[in-house]
Amino acid sequence: MSGYKNFAIVGAGTFGSFVVRQFLKDKASGTVNQVVVLTRQGSKTNVEGDAKVVSVDYSNKESIKSALTGVDVVICTISGEALNLQRGIAEAAKEAGVKLFVPSEFGNVSEGETEGLFGTKANVQNQLKAVGISYALFYTGPFADSIWAPFVDLDVTTGKVSVGGDGNKQISFTSRTDIARYLSYVLTQLPADQLKNRSFAIAGDNKSFKEIFKAYEAKTGKKLEVTYIPVSEFDARIAANPNDFPALLHKFFATAGPFSKTDNHLYPNWNPSSVLDNVPAV
Ligand SMILES: NC(=O)c1ccc[n+]([C@@H]2O[C@H](COP(=O)([O-])OP(=O)(O)OC[C@H]3O[C@@H](n4cnc5c(N)ncnc54)[C@H](OP(=O)(O)O)[C@@H]3O)[C@@H](O)[C@H]2O)c1
Repeated sequence: MSGYKNFAIVGAGTFGSFVVRQFLKDKASGTVNQVVVLTRQGSKTNVEGDAKVVSVDYSNKESIKSALTGVDVVICTISGEALNLQRGIAEAAKEAGVKLFVPSEFGNVSEGETEGLFGTKANVQNQLKAVGISYALFYTGPFADSIWAPFVDLDVTTGKVSVGGDGNKQISFTSRTDIARYLSYVLTQLPADQLKNRSFAIAGDNKSFKEIFKAYEAKTGKKLEVTYIPVSEFDARIAANPNDFPALLHKFFATAGPFSKTDNHLYPNWNPSSVLDNVPAV
C-alpha cells in the first residue's frame, strides 16, 4: 500500500467534483484521512461534505504551500489556461512535502505532443520533471458520461448527431465516476514506488460510434440521424484555434484507435460501466 492518506484536489469542477466525492467516500470509510480542495479566491464553487476547502491565490507560492501542508498527493483537475498554473502548484507542493503530483490529464495520451491542449499538457510533464516532484499521469480517453452534449454535436436526445471520421474506429471511453474510483484505488492501494513517474491508461469500454449508435437504437427504439464529418474540417478548425476542444475531440474520434494496452488490471475489481450505460436514454 502507498500509505497515502492525505489528498488535495485542485479545482473541483466538472471532473474534479467526481474526484472529491470519491475521496470523501473514502474518508467516510476510513481509507483516507484528509481531503483538501483548492479553489480560487472569490470562486463560487460549492463543495458539499467533509472536505477542507481552501481559497488560494495561485500567484502566491506561500498561499499554495500553506494549503498543501500535510498533503501526500495533489490531484489537479483544472483546465484551459489554468493548466499553466501547475508548475507553480508543483513547486509549492514540493516545498510543502507533497509526495506525488497528478497533473490534469484525464483524456488522450499527451506525451510527445507539441500543439494545443495536449501540447500544453505535455509541457506540464516536462515542468514536473524540472521541478523534481514525482508524478503519475492518468489517461482515460473521452469521458463516457459527458460527451453526449450539444457543444460537441453529440446530444443523442435530439435524435441528430455528428461524428468525425466514418464512425468505424474503436475508441477507449471511461466515465468520470469510474475514473475517480480508479484514481482512489491505485493512489491508496498500490505501493508508492509503483505510482511514481509513470502513466496509467484506463479504458472503461472500447467501442466505435457505429457500434454505440446501433446499440442505442436497439435499446431505445429511437432512430438516430448521424452525419459523419471528414477529418479535414476539424484540421481547419484546429489550425485556426489549437484549443478548439470539440474539433480536437472529433479529430481524435476520426483518427485514434483504442489504447493498445491498459492498466485496468491494477484494480482487479474495477468493473467500469459500458459506454451504452452512460448514453442518456431519452
Ligand atoms: N476526456 C474527456 O472527455 C474530458 C472532458 C472534459 C475535460 N477533460 C479534462 O479534465 C480536466 C478537468 O477539466 P474540467 O472540464 O473538469 O475543468 P473545469 O470544470 O473547466 O475547471 C475545473 C476547476 O478549475 C478551476 N479554475 C477554472 N479556471 C481557473 C483559473 N483561471 N485559474 C485557477 N483555477 C481555475 C475552477 O475551480 P474554482 O472555481 O473552485 O477555482 C474550476 O471549477 C482537464 O484536464 C480537461 O482537459 C477531459
